[in-house]
Amino acid sequence: WEVICSCHLLSRPSEEFMFKHKGFYFLPDLANPEYIDSLEHFVIRDSDVFVVTFPKSGTVWMQNILSLIYYESHRDGTAKTETIDRVPWLEYNFNKMDYGSRPSPRLFSTHLPYYLAPRDMRNKGAKVIYVARNPKDVAVSYFHFSKHAFIFEKVPDFNILMERFLSGKGKVSFTAKSSWFDHIRGWFTHRADYNILFLTYEEMKKDLRSAVLKICDFLGKRLTEKELDVVVEKATFNNMKSDPRSNYEDKTCILKKGRDNFLRRGTVGDWKNIMTVAQSEKFNKVFNEKMKDLPFKDRGTL
Ligand code: A3P
Repeated sequence: WEVICSCHLLSRPSEEFMFKHKGFYFLPDLANPEYIDSLEHFVIRDSDVFVVTFPKSGTVWMQNILSLIYYESHRDGTAKTETIDRVPWLEYNFNKMDYGSRPSPRLFSTHLPYYLAPRDMRNKGAKVIYVARNPKDVAVSYFHFSKHAFIFEKVPDFNILMERFLSGKGKVSFTAKSSWFDHIRGWFTHRADYNILFLTYEEMKKDLRSAVLKICDFLGKRLTEKELDVVVEKATFNNMKSDPRSNYEDKTCILKKGRDNFLRRGTVGDWKNIMTVAQSEKFNKVFNEKMKDLPFKDRGTL
């Protein structure tokens, strides 16, 4: 983090922030084409766990939940380690960790599309948790986030952002070329190749305890009732918002100080506060068209 905080990122025009590689955008200070290509042969352990998301789908939330499940010192508050260090980014090695020498089980996060992810993840040893969120809320979350984030191109008008989101042409994300549709389609249609659990942001909101139980089941982790209570309690929106370890509060290199951090509103259906009826209808039309062969017909439950 120090590396990016002290570098020239802050003064660079936003359009120069990203480079395109194999159809996807990446941050140049944190990755280069050789590194991204090398990830194809990243050595996977059966005990590895990957959180896979399209940006703004609840990544930080799942990072925190995994850290709480795996680390007693996180649950009891004795460790001050930030979740970004517990569940680091595969494609952005912010703290220059030696991933190869990390003790097992290693937890990772990634926004990578399935075809740029390490090949050996397909051997089904490593576990993958894909978190999907209603794309309308993803777009709205991104719109607000990009206004306060140094690292993204500013899009002043939601309509412009939405058009780019739907067409997949904007540099909407940290990593991906911006097509939410391609991202979820890729991981979902290749799900048989992976040991993968699909979860939705909406189901986590509806019943966090059940979602955590589902995650523990998938991971083969047995927590006591009391431990489970702590995980659920510490993973609530309000608790995470007031916990600097999980809200990226100090990451002024990413967000303008004093602005919304990664935890902005944390609700389902916030799109209704910004989208017009016409925008919503247009969104539905594109969604129905692009997702017609996938079982995600009802956006509300996605
Ligand atoms: P909003 O902008 O709608 O509030 P990501 O981590 O992938 O960037 O996703 C960020 C989104 O997840 C933000 O959405 C953030 O508020 C939400 N989020 C993070 N932690 C959450 C929690 N504990 N409960 C509900 N939403 C959470």
